[in-house]
Amino acid sequence: MERTKIILDCDPGHDDAVAIMMAAKHPSIELLGITVVSGNQTLQKTVTNALHICQHLNLDVTVYAGSPTPLIKDPIYAEFIHGKSGLDGPVFEPLTKKVEPMHAVSFIIRTLMRSEGDITMVTTGPMTNLALAMRLEPRIVKKIKQVVLMGGSAGSGNITPAAEFNIFVDADAAQIVFKSGLPIVMCGLDVTRKVRCYQEIIDRMDKLGNKASTLFKDMMEFYNETQLASFGWVGGPLHDPLTIAYLIDNSVIETSYCNVSVDNKSDVSYGRTNCDLINFMKKEPNVHVAIDVNVDLFWDIIESCLALYGTEN
Ligand code: RIB
Ligand code: CA
Repeated sequence: MERTKIILDCDPGHDDAVAIMMAAKHPSIELLGITVVSGNQTLQKTVTNALHICQHLNLDVTVYAGSPTPLIKDPIYAEFIHGKSGLDGPVFEPLTKKVEPMHAVSFIIRTLMRSEGDITMVTTGPMTNLALAMRLEPRIVKKIKQVVLMGGSAGSGNITPAAEFNIFVDADAAQIVFKSGLPIVMCGLDVTRKVRCYQEIIDRMDKLGNKASTLFKDMMEFYNETQLASFGWVGGPLHDPLTIAYLIDNSVIETSYCNVSVDNKSDVSYGRTNCDLINFMKKEPNVHVAIDVNVDLFWDIIESCLALYGTEN
């Protein structure tokens, strides 16, 4: 089987953590490295969380620290969802795994420039690292096979009425990526809000009885508490893993190829992704926007990934 080579750029974060667990283990994916950005928590905490997940599950994946702030704006965090550590809930062993000395942006550039142009960039946090890499070495744009991102919304937002968190944190970075001309698949709130991690889903995964399923349970039970408290959601939407599920089985989402423009100028709508699904403005399409999701298939993919772990990892 030809494996999809990816770099996963993330801000763990509970749902990022599940995306890492899937990408690191599924046989159809070759996870070349994890690059980390501030978003759900500070960079120091998101890096620590990425290292904890890899160490806890014995994942032989390198982790690189990226930008501690958005390109221009001051950072904001999602402590109200992910907690003080950014990954509240599970208790990890003392951390011994170390972050790589190379900066995440340097790793992205070096890896892409040495490649055959067959690497997919997956982003599940603010796109600051990818945008910086594009600005520092524009030649990488031709070396990226596609970008699959969790972010945006054709409808309402989740950090403001207009904007989804990953885009809102760094709309300037998102603007750079969306205008790059790269093939982009956008898994936005329109579909991720349909994959809700109800207690029966947690119970289903916990029955697998391995280290990954137990970690999933410990993370998701905390995540559901804050989603209920913050949004009134019973069962938190499991946003980020949909990017990996899409790479494993493209049929998990239905997309519409349309023009998407990022608002990085206005006040009340800052960070909005304006998805012209009916081509009203007659502008060139630039993004494959996910407009529907096969929810049952999504959870089957999640379960199949967690089942790949043993009792020790
Ligand atoms: O809006 C949801 C996104 O913001 C997810 O990636 C979540 O991890 C947070 O980063
Ligand atoms: Ca994330």
